[in-house]
Amino acid sequence: MKKRKVIIDCDPGYDDAIALILALLNDKLDIKAINATAGNQTVDKTYKNLIRICNYLNKNVRIGKGVVKPLFSELSDASHVHGKTGLDGVNIPNDIEMPKLETSIDVMKNIIETSTEKITIIAIGPLTNIALFIINYPDLLNQIDEIIIMGGSSFIGNRTPSAEFNIHADAEAARIVFESGVPVIMAGLDVTEKSLIYESEFDEIAKLGKNGMFAAEILRNYNKFYLTLEEKFNGVPVHDICAVGYAIDSSIFEGKEYHVDIECEGKYTYGRTVVDFKNRLKKEKNVKVLFEVDRDKLVKMLIDEIKSENGEVYNA
Ligand code: RIB
Ligand code: CA
Repeated sequence: MKKRKVIIDCDPGYDDAIALILALLNDKLDIKAINATAGNQTVDKTYKNLIRICNYLNKNVRIGKGVVKPLFSELSDASHVHGKTGLDGVNIPNDIEMPKLETSIDVMKNIIETSTEKITIIAIGPLTNIALFIINYPDLLNQIDEIIIMGGSSFIGNRTPSAEFNIHADAEAARIVFESGVPVIMAGLDVTEKSLIYESEFDEIAKLGKNGMFAAEILRNYNKFYLTLEEKFNGVPVHDICAVGYAIDSSIFEGKEYHVDIECEGKYTYGRTVVDFKNRLKKEKNVKVLFEVDRDKLVKMLIDEIKSENGEVYNA
């Protein structure tokens, strides 16, 4: 079966780490590179976390380092969620060998311009790197199949009342991506807050060998933030896993195409993904907005990948 060629852009971060476990253990994706971006933490820290994760999973992947800040503002990180390291409490080797330093833009250019097949970009952090690639290499955009993002929301925000964190981190970059003409799949809070891994499932995952213990430790540390919230999820919304899960099997998601604009000026609405449900603007329907996910199948996808990597029975 033909594998989907992908480049992942991430800011690990707990949920990024779970998404990377799914992506790196899955055999339906041909991961050409993974780039780190500033977001949950500084790019120095997300870059190092990315290398630590690949090292722990014993996966040899080309890695690039993204820009240090959004296009027009300073970085406003999510250290209150992911800690000062970006993976606080997760005990994986820190003394790792650093790869040859490549910038994410150069990595994307090299892979996309030399690929014989179209590339899918999976972006699960702020979109600064993707926007800079679009600005610098417009002639290569026809080589990109689609851009699957974790970001946005058709209704509420989680960084502000209006805006989701990844879009709010660099709304101008998001506008460039959404207006690029490349098809965008938006896995926003509409669907990612349904992608819950329940506390009751943490123990089951922990029993699945070294990778299961790794995933469970990430989930337990991620859950510490959610336990402080008024809103009780009884688990953690593993936002980023939706973008990877869609790339692997889009049939477990439901969505619809709309025109989506990004608010870049509003005092209370900066970073909002404005979904034109009634097609008032009569503009191109540039985004497939995801609204539903079969949560059980998504979590089973992760658990089966961890099991299969441990040589356990793989339920196809
Ligand atoms: O809003 C959730 C998103 O913000 C996720 O990508 C999480 O990792 C943080 O970056
Ligand atoms: Ca992320």
